[in-house]
Amino acid sequence: MKNRSLVSIADYSKKEVLRILELAVEFEKNPYQQLLNNNVIATLFFEPSTRTRLSFESAISRLGGKIIGFSDSSSTSVQKGESLKDTIKTISNYCDLIVMRHPIEGSARYASEVASVPIVNAGDGANQHPTQTLLDMYSIKKTQNTLDNLNIFMVGDLKYGRTVHSLLIAMSYFNTTFNFISPKELKMPAVYKLHLDNLGLKYYEHTDFTEYISEADIVYMTRVQKERFSDPIEYEKVKNVYVLRKHMLEKTKKNMKILHPLPRVNEINEDVDENMKAYYFTQALNGVYTRQAILTSILGIK
Ligand code: CP
Repeated sequence: MKNRSLVSIADYSKKEVLRILELAVEFEKNPYQQLLNNNVIATLFFEPSTRTRLSFESAISRLGGKIIGFSDSSSTSVQKGESLKDTIKTISNYCDLIVMRHPIEGSARYASEVASVPIVNAGDGANQHPTQTLLDMYSIKKTQNTLDNLNIFMVGDLKYGRTVHSLLIAMSYFNTTFNFISPKELKMPAVYKLHLDNLGLKYYEHTDFTEYISEADIVYMTRVQKERFSDPIEYEKVKNVYVLRKHMLEKTKKNMKILHPLPRVNEINEDVDENMKAYYFTQALNGVYTRQAILTSILGIK
């Protein structure tokens, strides 16, 4: 992991994923350590973010590191027409690692090819969100006490949702059975189903989930990604297609947990929030420990 960019979750082997999760356990016990005293980390967000940027910045601050960067590229020379290549090459001179979110699929891979420091992909369009996946897996392992042989329901926008794409790849190391619940317009892309076919893993596709939810160990809800639709009318057709409500949890497994990368819009009713099965806010907290593990591993400090 040392000095390697994290662009796709497929960049990490099963052993490396497990190593990050073990380290995150240690950071949860002690998140305040002066491990990044000599490091400057750039957080470059070309797209809006609350959790990813602020949990990275919290992770860095709690380890004594310095942060440079921006949350809105309109205040940078990108506005004057500077290319991504020139932006990344320049900022590489000022820091030890770059965390980047960008709307274009493949932008993180491109940045990793032109940068002189490691790049951590904080989301590139509808493609990948590998650090979210690691915190999701940390949350799954913590609540289920295992990653093996689980039944995971992915619900909502499986076409544009980068978090489910990354999570599918990583959980395919652990003999997961997948249930994909989406409207036909937002189905899991064929490339990911082919990945499961090649590994001989089971998956099922449904348009309704109330009938099957009792089988789930994890229900992973997702927001319909309005920003990825070119036609607003198409978004309007599907925006409220699934809403999880408290009464729907009655017949679910005792230890089932509801995850959501957040932000949510309407897909989880607020009457679910106080239920023991709602885990999404703790999941967001786990992002701090997991990102501490990622940063220190890449910087070769842990
Ligand atoms: N989960 C996630 O990526 O949230 P933000 O868009 O708020 O960073």
